[in-house]
Amino acid sequence: MREWGGAALTFMENLNQLSISPQNIDYIILNHLEPDHTGFTYMLNNLAPNAQFVTTSKGVELLEEFYGIKDSSISVKTGDSLDLGNGKKFSFTEIPHVHWPETMVSYEEKSKILFSGDAFGAFGVHQGPIFDNETPNVSKEYWEEEMLRYYANIIAMFSPNVIKAIDSLKNLEIQQIAPSHGLIWKGKPEVVIRKYKRYANYNQDYAEPEICVVWGSMYGNTEKMLNAILRGISQEGLPVSVFRVPNDDPSYILAKAYKSAGLIIGTPTYEYSMFPPMKYFMELLQKKHIYYKKVLFFGSYGWSGGAQKDFEKLSQNMKWDIFEPLSFKGHPTKEQLQKGISLAIELAQQVKKIPPKVNDETY
Ligand code: FEO
Repeated sequence: MREWGGAALTFMENLNQLSISPQNIDYIILNHLEPDHTGFTYMLNNLAPNAQFVTTSKGVELLEEFYGIKDSSISVKTGDSLDLGNGKKFSFTEIPHVHWPETMVSYEEKSKILFSGDAFGAFGVHQGPIFDNETPNVSKEYWEEEMLRYYANIIAMFSPNVIKAIDSLKNLEIQQIAPSHGLIWKGKPEVVIRKYKRYANYNQDYAEPEICVVWGSMYGNTEKMLNAILRGISQEGLPVSVFRVPNDDPSYILAKAYKSAGLIIGTPTYEYSMFPPMKYFMELLQKKHIYYKKVLFFGSYGWSGGAQKDFEKLSQNMKWDIFEPLSFKGHPTKEQLQKGISLAIELAQQVKKIPPKVNDETY
């Protein structure tokens, strides 16, 4: 495996192994113009002067805006096809906003391979096998987590578009799905479609009966309440993940927050407003549309409040069911700690009633 900067060289080596000279390339299909996939396009246009870039009309615009290429593009739309004359024929389906607005997928009719761009992708690093059916069982949990982390961070806010995209592909007989990130689905491509449906639905209703706790503390007072709340939750025996800001990587926190129907935010006030690392995380939740949560807020303040006011502002329009907030001055009292335990138990009991989503993910 090469690092990011080696991608262009790897591409050229692969062409070489196939005895294809760049001058002989007729078409370059661009499903998605984001530069993690197209950063090499300017150079490629020079190396392959006879090639036409095939993309959607919005992709044609981006091709000019990002790479100054305007005279060698072909615009396609849903239902269009491209016959290569060698027994291979591609058909195209636009799937706008999975991830950018110009996105499409390409389906090769003979091999029945769907080249899906960002759709059905995953984070993660290949550890040998690149195909689902060659992935050892011990690695499957890793891929599940990396797929969800990718979805929560990159795709979650476009979930209604994911549902539409899956519907628009329902008539294709798909034997393989080759996304531009993560595993290639050669054994059971239907599994990744089911996973994506499940992830998209986490944005439409309460997700899994789990709790994600995100906390920050400056002087240990909010942490004291955190410990009481964790004691409360533990009585109900639900899966719990606990993250501290700014110490933990936000992309991992976001993944667990997306998957969990219960969300607990513990943060102190810092100079009239929310502790800045938590404010950043709350803005991330809002930006990524992490909807439908049972939520508890708690935190300490000194000479002035402010964190709770920010929480109320940042949780507007999030479709959250918010419990009674628990703000306290300085150190929490015994009574306040008891209240924290009771609220945590109440939240955990409500989360427990949420049915787990069907898990038929074997591949
Ligand atoms: Fe939206 Fe992988 O780029």
